[in-house]
Amino acid sequence: MNIRPFEKSDVSKIEAFFDQMGAETRKFFNTNDVNRNFALKFVTEKNKSIIRWLAEDDGVMVGYVFLWDIDTTLPWLGIAVHDQYKGKGLGKRLIAHAHEWATANNKGGVILITAESNERGQRLYESMGYEFHGIHPSGERLYIKRFIAFEDPEREGRLPVIPGF
Ligand SMILES: CC(C)(COP(=O)(O)OP(=O)(O)OC[C@H]1O[C@@H](n2cnc3c(N)ncnc32)[C@H](O)[C@@H]1OP(=O)(O)O)[C@@H](O)C(=O)NCCC(=O)NCCS
Repeated sequence: MNIRPFEKSDVSKIEAFFDQMGAETRKFFNTNDVNRNFALKFVTEKNKSIIRWLAEDDGVMVGYVFLWDIDTTLPWLGIAVHDQYKGKGLGKRLIAHAHEWATANNKGGVILITAESNERGQRLYESMGYEFHGIHPSGERLYIKRFIAFEDPEREGRLPVIPGF
């Protein structure tokens, strides 16, 4: 299993990944083909603030993770795993991969939203250190992973912890 950035020659692999999605993944990840179109856009995309990686097993795309707004301190994350590869820890590996990039590039954390009914997604995010921060205006649950612990505000040059923040 290899996790690597998208390449121009990956279009048919990406199409096949979206084609295999069952009801759960389509519901939580690809309503109205929004994420399929967003993924395939990478070939001609001029917006350089997005980075997409795929997990490949024997030439088949089995996972997808991406960050956007990567020119800000708090990029957004999106993720999906091939139906036959769910529940085997690949989601965690993909998120860890995105976190590695984000920490290496001095980001403050990662933000995402997920549906109220997406319990599997919430379990994954919480196990990766994401904290629930209330309901986003979209109606979905908002999660943030901070890379900075706020353990020593003096040394970190930051404000002390403010209750509620
Ligand atoms: C959500 C998703 C990315 C998780 O990937 P995954 O590879 O299945 O997840 P992992 O195997 O790494 O498991 C991560 C956690 O979820 C838990 N989990 C696995 N299957 C679960 C299930 N059916 N219900 C609840 N939790 C589940 C695991 O136990 C693990 O938690 P733990 O470490 O506390 O035990 C994947 O299932 C998926 O693609 N879902 C559809 C698309 C989607 O929802 N994308 C996110 C939209 S916000």
